[in-house]
Amino acid sequence: MRFLITAGPTREPIDPVRYISNRSSGKMGYAIAEAALTEGHDVTLISGPAIVEPPRDANLIPVSTSDEMFEAVHRDADKCDICVLCAAVADYKPANVSSTKIKKHGAKFSLELIPTRDILDSLGHKQDRQFVLIGFAAETDHVEENAAKKLCAKNCDIIIANDVSGADSGMESDVNEVIILFRNGEKTKISRAPKKIIARELVKIFSNFATKMFDKKNVTIN
Ligand code: PMT
Repeated sequence: MRFLITAGPTREPIDPVRYISNRSSGKMGYAIAEAALTEGHDVTLISGPAIVEPPRDANLIPVSTSDEMFEAVHRDADKCDICVLCAAVADYKPANVSSTKIKKHGAKFSLELIPTRDILDSLGHKQDRQFVLIGFAAETDHVEENAAKKLCAKNCDIIIANDVSGADSGMESDVNEVIILFRNGEKTKISRAPKKIIARELVKIFSNFATKMFDKKNVTIN
């Protein structure tokens, strides 16, 4: 099957030397890409600036901003069977980007932020979507409940609830712990384990789900 996976953070420029971003390392998304390649799948990896090396056999598309990630995902989404949006896309970006370095003033300074385009939501509400759509939900509180809300609102097939409240699991860490929520209300938990092990389980779950969905629709996958 053909996987499209997003990973890492986005960077939303403020001026030529500053940006808004987050702590995503790319480890979870890259581990999923590696696990999918090991299972013999094709992988397109659309990645923000991650701190880890990408798997060698992935078709890597490096991006920086949420707008670049949005465009890259939409260019390739219809070519994939399984789309996994693991990237930590910024929810807001500066309303204006200064072309010169903003000077330090003595007084308070505020930035006006505007919402970025939501990639998962846009794919979830795409007419005639043929691929399986999987989102992640990074949450610090009411993890499962908030993830379930995102599953419905963004209209995806599966959402991975990821508790990012601790320093020893979730973002940046080599380990993770996730709950997989399906649209029909079923759920599965993967207990604390290295991201590479979790990724192998996730790839199995995603491809089984896709096989069932395509069988139902009578779609042949090469
Ligand atoms: O990179 P690591 O350090 O290994 O950390 C992994 C991770 C914690 C970043 C990852 O497992 C994870 O949870 N990724 C989702 C991060 C996130 O942005 O979650 P969210 O709940 O804010 O967004 C929900 C979903 O909408 C995500 O699939 C996200 O990719 C998507 N989204 C969000 C905003 C936006 N503008 N466009 C989007 O597509």
